[in-house]
Amino acid sequence: MTSTQDVHPLLLRRSEEVGAFRIVRRLATGGYGAIFLAESETRGPVALKFALQGPSRENEAHVDERTWKEAAVLMRLEHPNVVEMLGYRRWPDARDGYMVLILGYVEGPTLSEWALRSHPTPRRVAQVFAQVALTLDAIHREGVLHRDIKGSNIIIRASDGQPVLVDFGSGDHACTPVLTEDSLPPGTPSYRSPEALRFWTGPRVSGSRYAFQPTDDLYSLGLVLYEVLTGAFPYPAQLPPSALLASIESSQLRPPSGLNPRVPAVLDPICLRLLHKHAEGRYPSGAELYGALSAAMETADVSWDEPLFPPRAPPDAVTEEAEELFDGDEDARELRRWMRAPERPGSPWDTDSGVPGRLLTPPTEPGPRFPMEPGAARPSLWEVWLRRRLRSLRRGLAALRSRRGR
Ligand SMILES: Nc1ncnc2c1ncn2[C@@H]1O[C@H](COP(=O)(O)OP(=O)(O)O)[C@@H](O)[C@H]1O
Ligand SMILES: [Mg+2]
Repeated sequence: MTSTQDVHPLLLRRSEEVGAFRIVRRLATGGYGAIFLAESETRGPVALKFALQGPSRENEAHVDERTWKEAAVLMRLEHPNVVEMLGYRRWPDARDGYMVLILGYVEGPTLSEWALRSHPTPRRVAQVFAQVALTLDAIHREGVLHRDIKGSNIIIRASDGQPVLVDFGSGDHACTPVLTEDSLPPGTPSYRSPEALRFWTGPRVSGSRYAFQPTDDLYSLGLVLYEVLTGAFPYPAQLPPSALLASIESSQLRPPSGLNPRVPAVLDPICLRLLHKHAEGRYPSGAELYGALSAAMETADVSWDEPLFPPRAPPDAVTEEAEELFDGDEDARELRRWMRAPERPGSPWDTDSGVPGRLLTPPTEPGPRFPMEPGAARPSLWEVWLRRRLRSLRRGLAALRSRRGR
């Protein structure tokens, strides 16, 4: 019988079978899981999300627990703008194999890819964010908090242009088990609200937990809106939490239309209210954000139908790298994408725009927290994976340096 020791999700190749499904290709690899497109005779395409560690290894069970928790949260949700959970199983062994979530396949780019490649207009952006606001409102009413809202966790569904929330791996619901949180809990540090950063960087009673609120999800959505409207992350990303908090506390955000004149001024106060330094200053619910965006859309004139960033003619256009070159590391690809963002006219790094050049390094997923064994005789799969990830990052940096040198 095949055991967990003989196989690993990252080694899965095209046509291999996982239960009733046949692997088509790897879609992405994150800090905790790998996502594959797969097909079956009866169900058509599905996305299989594998936990990268099994349940039984000492000190590593949190990856397995996290995937269980994701399944428990998704089971509570049924919404046209939330990824559909079709089931779960363990692989290869039904008792101690890797957790696999069987998800509805959502074909389409992530919101970050869409923003960089599809030249959306202010009207489309407002429509998409209004729909995300309604979706957040619906999940919050169910008592679920997403806790990791960012561009790569929203897919723009190709069939109808609707946003779909994915990745509830950091999600929370009162009924789900509490995982150990002795440091900043799962989620992407750069997208944390200032109040969460204050909690985790300030003095606190040992064992106390930060009480996430809908306003935390709305703050993260505000960061994504700011990125989409301006092409810029408003703070230096990838700072340690205390430095990021200091940057947030000390800076006065420029309104999006100040960075990109194509942004309708009526969207400025909406975006800035989402990014208010205190939760009380923000929209209290997704429904109120939806109301504000709908009211703004009623004032729309023809300028709302011009792309936020004018498309550039080839060969200068920001193009997606060839799929054959993609090594499956979605975070590193996103980093390379945003590094190419300055090539867009009107972006804050565009030297013609008069704004001082500033490097945007998009936040990445939290790294895997696993004990590295310096004396290990053979590199573990984790080490192989980490090295691959480092190689991708180095490639991205080399590309950036060569562009700067030009
Ligand atoms: N159901 C799905 N259909 C299609 N693509 C998906 C689906 N779920 C996730 N993805 C893709 O895989 C990427 C990583 O999935 P995600 O659930 O965010 O995993 P992680 O927890 O590792 O971040 C997403 O950014 C998206 O591009
Ligand atoms: Mg994700």
